[in-house]
Amino acid sequence: MSRITIADLAAWKRAGKKWAMLTSYEQMTAAIFDQAQIPVLLVGDSAGNNFLGEENTIPVTVDELIPLARAVVRGSQRALVVADLPFGSYEPGPELALANGIRFFKEAKAHAVKLEGGKKVLPQIQALIAAGIPVMGHLGLTPQSVHALGGFKVQGRGADARRIIEDALAIEAAGVFAVVLELVPEELAAEITAKLSIPVIGIGAGNKCDAQVLVWTDLMGMTQGAPKLAKAYRNLRVEMIAAATEWAEDVGTGKFPGPDQTFH
Ligand code: KIV
Repeated sequence: MSRITIADLAAWKRAGKKWAMLTSYEQMTAAIFDQAQIPVLLVGDSAGNNFLGEENTIPVTVDELIPLARAVVRGSQRALVVADLPFGSYEPGPELALANGIRFFKEAKAHAVKLEGGKKVLPQIQALIAAGIPVMGHLGLTPQSVHALGGFKVQGRGADARRIIEDALAIEAAGVFAVVLELVPEELAAEITAKLSIPVIGIGAGNKCDAQVLVWTDLMGMTQGAPKLAKAYRNLRVEMIAAATEWAEDVGTGKFPGPDQTFH
């Protein structure tokens, strides 16, 4: 089976076709979301607070993300797999960004990388693209800068909208193939989506974007205290607690294993 490519995403933008991206951090969900025909899987640094038990994305390292990205690539057959460049792996400059992008390509076999920021990371974006590594941008609320932004607050209100529009135009001109727009007013997201010829992927950015992304644990109702921007389509947390409790009770009363699970 051939994988979705960045050329497919560009064609969908031209055709006005909306699509979905989900995070994935290991092979099981990668295979399941692939079967659900999710075209793009993001090995996000949200693995920090959704997989690795960290408070936020900041402590996540390249060494931690590479095995997760490798598992997602191995677990999927159709999806384009994008790996996040975590905090500290690209800010110091284009050389480090390129070295880490190459690691994600060679060690995880990821198909693209994502990094946060606008004009200030243009040299990093250019170095990666010049080496043949497709780059996805990320603007608006950029979680790696949560302390500098003073918390998880809506970005781009009032005069600040201009800064985000300029950043979006600058990274598009540098060659990113898509951009995530997080926690911005719907009107601003609609304006940027109309201005750019690359796909704009919204999260907490209203429904005028070309695509939407969610953290899979939020979508499935696994997260306690999920953010307002997410919607739980199932309640797997409740289901899993019920299954684990039931099984442990059956073990306690001697009902498990039953005849079907027993060998003679
Ligand atoms: O790391 C992540 O999951 C992300 C998405 C929220 C876009 O960056």
